[in-house]
Amino acid sequence: MKLTVVGGGSTYTPELIDGFARLRDVLPVTELVLTDPATDRLDLIGPLSRRIFDRLGHPGRITTTTDLDAAVDGADAVLLQLRVGGQAARLQDETWPLDCGCVGQETTGAGGLAKALRTVPVVLDIADRVRRSNPDAWIIDFTNPVGIVTRALLQAGHKALGLCNVAIGLQRKFAALLNVTPEDVALDHVGLNHLTWETAVHVGGENVLPRLLTEHGETIAADLRLPLPLLTTLGVVPSYYLRYFYAHDEVVREQRTKPSRAAEVARMEQELLTLYADPALAEKPPLLAKRGGAYYSEAAVDLAAALLRNAGSPHQVVNTRNNGTLPFLPDDAVVEVPARITPKGAEPLPVSPMDPLFSGLVAGVTAYEDLALEAALHGGRDRVFRALLAHPLIGQYEYADRLADTLIAHNREHLTWA
Ligand code: G6P
Ligand code: MN
Repeated sequence: MKLTVVGGGSTYTPELIDGFARLRDVLPVTELVLTDPATDRLDLIGPLSRRIFDRLGHPGRITTTTDLDAAVDGADAVLLQLRVGGQAARLQDETWPLDCGCVGQETTGAGGLAKALRTVPVVLDIADRVRRSNPDAWIIDFTNPVGIVTRALLQAGHKALGLCNVAIGLQRKFAALLNVTPEDVALDHVGLNHLTWETAVHVGGENVLPRLLTEHGETIAADLRLPLPLLTTLGVVPSYYLRYFYAHDEVVREQRTKPSRAAEVARMEQELLTLYADPALAEKPPLLAKRGGAYYSEAAVDLAAALLRNAGSPHQVVNTRNNGTLPFLPDDAVVEVPARITPKGAEPLPVSPMDPLFSGLVAGVTAYEDLALEAALHGGRDRVFRALLAHPLIGQYEYADRLADTLIAHNREHLTWA
């Protein structure tokens, strides 16, 4: 089995390698290709990845290349984990929206739109090249904004699913609080990527969410940095990305005084790269756990195992075509829900009717995602303006106007049409 990681030079890659090595019984990879335009990164991450495989006794071969076509040739699955413009572009996304009093975030709001505009054309080009060389290969997309990128891939007819670690992270958190194993916990997880709520938590045939909120509400609220009475009113557990909506202005006030996450991550990346250069290092360093991507390797292994071998967990949370799962959304919207995964793809499990408290926001953000994709595919300031105006966190013409100009000014080198 051959797997290719596009963006294999990411500082996150050792997390993925560690997962492949530990879970080799579920997913027996024989060849793993790391591809990236940055040779300096590949020269560090490739040898470290081999040392991790060796230490954990994984017999698979790891190769590195800057040649994308060679990398994807013959691959059974291709994982996309790239970041167009790197942390420097992310720093911009997190900064300029603040001038309008809007949240500065890499996937939410105006910053997320900038990322979508930079990323969609690049990912579509990669996907076309994958399809040309290997039409049967699955594309597993981690590249943010995952909802919009997955929608772009599906609309272009690609064999793709989008993946995020929010659900698997909460599954593990709840399992620890309840003192059970993660496999014992099944979530009713519903919404769009980075806009989800856990509406039930099943353990042994019982919905333990009410108990979880009564007994561990303080801990969960503290983790989310949201007030406990809000969680009690919602009666569900929102993902931490909902803080950008429920506490938007509070977040903006914080962001105006604190260093950005991009700056923090850039510092960590420098430190990680120094650690990776040590030939004695043969495991993922603890510092990597400070990144947001915890457990993403396990989610990736599980999904690839189900798609390629009909193994792994039968039900997994993925980003896939709505097809009536949330009846108030268009069929071609991309939703993030639990699905049955087989080598044929994802079949979403039925979802209980959504409370208007959540469905209104989901509908609004879906409309934004639709317009964001139009802007990413066809360009033009008008399309950028329309997407910004439709975003529930922006909405006013004065802001949409200013943000459209700033977005384009900051991203010109990445936008062919600007
Ligand atoms: C979570 C999200 C990812 C996101 C990451 C950011 O894992 O699900 O989509 O990329 O956080 O983490 P970072 O350490 O880069 O801030
Ligand atoms: Mn994510």
